[in-house]
Amino acid sequence: MTAELHGQNRRKFLANAGFAAMALAAGGCAGGRAKVGGTGAMSAFAAPPLARVRVGVVGVGSRGTYALKRLAFMPGVEIAAFCDVSEAAMKRSREFLAQKKFRPAREFLGPEAYRDLCQWDGVDVVYACVPWKLHAPVALAAMRADKHAFVEVPATMDVDSCWELVETSEATRRHCMMLENCCYGENEMLALNMCRLGVLGETVYGEAGYLHSGKTRGFKLSEFRAEWYREHRGNYYPTHGLGPVAQYMNINRGDRFDYLNSMESTSIGDLIRAGDTRWNGENLETYKKYLIGGYNSSLIRTVNGKVILLNLSCPVPHPYSRINTIQGTHGVFMDYPLRIDVEDTPGSGPHEKRDPEFNERFDRARTAAYREKYRHPLWKQVGELAKKAGGHGGMDFLMDMRWVYCLQNGLPLDMDVYDLAAWSCLCEITEKSQARRGAPVEIPDFTRGAWKTMKPLGIVTIDLAKMDFSNVGAAGPQQTIGHSKEG
Ligand SMILES: NC(=O)c1ccc[n+]([C@@H]2O[C@H](COP(=O)([O-])OP(=O)(O)OC[C@H]3O[C@@H](n4cnc5c(N)ncnc54)[C@H](O)[C@@H]3O)[C@@H](O)[C@H]2O)c1
Repeated sequence: MTAELHGQNRRKFLANAGFAAMALAAGGCAGGRAKVGGTGAMSAFAAPPLARVRVGVVGVGSRGTYALKRLAFMPGVEIAAFCDVSEAAMKRSREFLAQKKFRPAREFLGPEAYRDLCQWDGVDVVYACVPWKLHAPVALAAMRADKHAFVEVPATMDVDSCWELVETSEATRRHCMMLENCCYGENEMLALNMCRLGVLGETVYGEAGYLHSGKTRGFKLSEFRAEWYREHRGNYYPTHGLGPVAQYMNINRGDRFDYLNSMESTSIGDLIRAGDTRWNGENLETYKKYLIGGYNSSLIRTVNGKVILLNLSCPVPHPYSRINTIQGTHGVFMDYPLRIDVEDTPGSGPHEKRDPEFNERFDRARTAAYREKYRHPLWKQVGELAKKAGGHGGMDFLMDMRWVYCLQNGLPLDMDVYDLAAWSCLCEITEKSQARRGAPVEIPDFTRGAWKTMKPLGIVTIDLAKMDFSNVGAAGPQQTIGHSKEG
């Protein structure tokens, strides 16, 4: 895509969606445009090795505190700085570092203090765990100050700031990675390994989602989430389920998202009936104001003709699930609960009709056998350590371990800024499509054609001799799957 066309697409998006105010708040397309670095310039990008990785954590609330504790014990990492607007949050991190006998970190307090942290030459990496609308401003400030940017999910909520992050990463030659921990889940990496080995055949269809609302009903939501629910519709949390499925399908690396249709059920606020005491009393007034629907369902089609179902459920009760399904021409992988089956010979596969009792035993045994046979080499290497370290079943630890290892050894990261943009931009695109009765909305090609030649993510491992894991587990308890408050 030419720079001119690309500019037209950006303007069209802004004019259509009324997202201009948000885009401006996120670092803005209207002024200070970054220089475009070139198509796919950050694909397989590797920065010079960093023997010691000095991290500045911005936002030490719930997620940021867990991250700070995890990273403090990661081999070769130093928590050099942290930042928040809350003195209580700062105190918690300060006391943790002192109690565990780490060197005191430099502190940055205040709503704009992240800019000073980014400018400070004592950090190499800025790790952002702030409210959603701040992700992009922090990442942009970090890259413009020559620091690598790592941002929580979703990296940003609108198309324009996705472009801004892509262009800034290309222009500054700094990594910009979204911290999509679910790509490191044990089952997700199992599925990825099976796809890489071609066990399922060619992938044709995937299902992804974030269904995590039963728990949320009982809690008072943090204000940035409640504010989003009041002001928006669409899938505001697409990346946990979609990231892994996009990797199975080599999105941005041989294929790319083309367009989607999205539909959403009635706003939560309109569903609350007077006198229905089953809505949580404490949160009733908050829920009444929600514009967000109880359920959003989207269908994505890729340029190579594959289809992905992407679901999100908001505050309606549902057991925790990221769905995590991948259908191939010769087999299927379905998660929550895990079921895997592959055709040994044509016609012998899971499509055969069997009586339910036999089917269940058959599935369990075969699933267990596939699980054992195709466990991802990274999980074979460090899976037990990851489980001991914790963090959503160990995937938080594995994610951090991998990017730290890559930075230390001058390797490309597993996820790049194009992944960040393609996965995160769906917040705006789903919102736009559902507002137009599910009409198809194009998904931008953030690689500007480079997806045709970019190489798929391989089977990544680490050299155990290069990382000393003797302190694993010393950080203390970490978040658990489906039991964290919101995320
Ligand atoms: N990957 C995961 O599994 C996962 C899990 C939970 C949350 N998250 C993500 O992490 C992010 C934070 O979520 P959370 O639950 O920790 O929220 P939180 O409200 O607990 O924490 C946010 C922190 O940011 C601070 N903050 C606000 N404005 C700031 C500013 N201008 N400068 C510096 N700090 C500022 C707040 O004071 C707070 O301490 C969100 O993007 C969320 O989606 C990801």
